[in-house]
Amino acid sequence: MTFRWGVIGPGAIARRFSQGIAAIDDAAITAVASRSAERAQAFADEVGASTVYDSYDKLVADPDVDAVYVATPHPYHLNQASMALNAGKPVLCEKPLCVNGDQVDQLISCAKNNDVFLMEAMWTRCLPVMRKVKDWVDAGKIGEIKQVKASFGFNAALNPEGRLFSPELAGGSLLDVGVYVVALTQRFFPGAPKSIKATAEIGSTGVDEQCSMLLQYDSGALAIIDSAVRCQTDSTAFIFGSEGSIRIEGPFWCTTKATLRIGDNEEVFEQAHKANGFEYEAEEVARCVRAGEKESPLITHADSVQVMAIMDEVRKQISLSYPFELLAVKE
Ligand SMILES: NC(=O)c1ccc[n+]([C@@H]2O[C@H](COP(=O)([O-])OP(=O)(O)OC[C@H]3O[C@@H](n4cnc5c(N)ncnc54)[C@H](OP(=O)(O)O)[C@@H]3O)[C@@H](O)[C@H]2O)c1
Repeated sequence: MTFRWGVIGPGAIARRFSQGIAAIDDAAITAVASRSAERAQAFADEVGASTVYDSYDKLVADPDVDAVYVATPHPYHLNQASMALNAGKPVLCEKPLCVNGDQVDQLISCAKNNDVFLMEAMWTRCLPVMRKVKDWVDAGKIGEIKQVKASFGFNAALNPEGRLFSPELAGGSLLDVGVYVVALTQRFFPGAPKSIKATAEIGSTGVDEQCSMLLQYDSGALAIIDSAVRCQTDSTAFIFGSEGSIRIEGPFWCTTKATLRIGDNEEVFEQAHKANGFEYEAEEVARCVRAGEKESPLITHADSVQVMAIMDEVRKQISLSYPFELLAVKE
C-alpha cells in the first residue's frame, strides 16, 4: 500500500522532500496545500499529486492522506502541525520543530492528547551513515566522548524580507542551521549540558548572522559548535573520544561517509543516498505510523525538547527574541 503524503507549504524544502519521496517505491505525495491555488497546482503537477487545496485546513481533513508534511517557515509550525494533529493526521514537521520551548511543549502536548504521531524533520538522524556513527559510539568504539565539533554555515544573499533574515519569520542562523549542530551534539549527549556559553553577530535586520556555542557536560566533555548564514564554513563534523575519533564527512547534515579512527586503524562506512537523503526520514515516518508508534526513536519528543531548551538558552545569551514573542510577553 502506498503511503500517501499531504504537503503544507509547497516551497523550497517541500520540493527537495518530493525528490526523496520519488525514490521510495511505496510512497507518494498525493495532496498539496498552498495559500494559493495556482502554487498548489504547479507543485502538484511537478510531483504528480492528484489533489490540490487552496488552504491548509482543507488538506488536513482529506481522508486519503496518511501523513502531513509541514514545510512552512518556523513561526507557522505550531499552528499548522497542531491543526493536522487535531484532525488525527500524523505529522512530520520541518526543523526547528517550533520557535521556542513553550511552543514545542504545546505541540507535543497536542500530539499526546490526540494520540497521534509527531516527528521533527531532523533528517540527518535518519541517514544510514549517521545511524552507523551512533552504533559505533554506543558500542564504545571511541571510548568516552570528549568533544563534538561541528559547524553549519552558508553564504546567503541578504534579503530582509526572506525567512532567513526577517525577525517576523524567526530568522537567524541559530534556528535555521544551528539546530543541526545542536541536534548532532544532543544525539550523543541526550541530557542537559551543565553550562552553555554563546556569542553571536547580530546583523542589520536584528537576527543572528552567525552564532558560536560552547557546551559543557557533567563529564567535562565539550561541544564546540557554530552556525552562520552569511559565510560558508567547513561542514565536516568530528566526534573525539578517549579511545578514538569519528570524522563525519561534510556536509555532515546529509553525509554519505564517516570514518572511525582508532590509533592507526581506520574503518570507513560509506553509503550513497537513493535520492537526496530526504527519503530516509520519510521512510522512518511511514514505518512508525504503520507500526502504530507515536514518536520515532531516532528523533524523540524529548530530543526536540532538549534541543530547543539549548537554543532558548543560547537566544537568551545573545539577546535575540522575535517580535511575536515580545507581544506574547506583553500580553
Ligand atoms: N530539512 C532541510 O534540509 C531544510 C532545508 C531548508 C528549510 N528547511 C525548513 O523548512 C521550512 C521552510 O523552509 P523553506 O526554505 O522551504 O521556506 P520557503 O520556501 O520560504 O516557504 C515555504 C512555504 O511556506 C509557505 N508559507 C506560509 N506562510 C508563509 C509566509 N508568511 N511567508 C513565506 N512563506 C509562507 C509558502 O507556501 P504557500 O504560500 O504556497 O502556501 C512557501 O512556499 C523552515 O522551517 C526551514 O527551517 C529545512
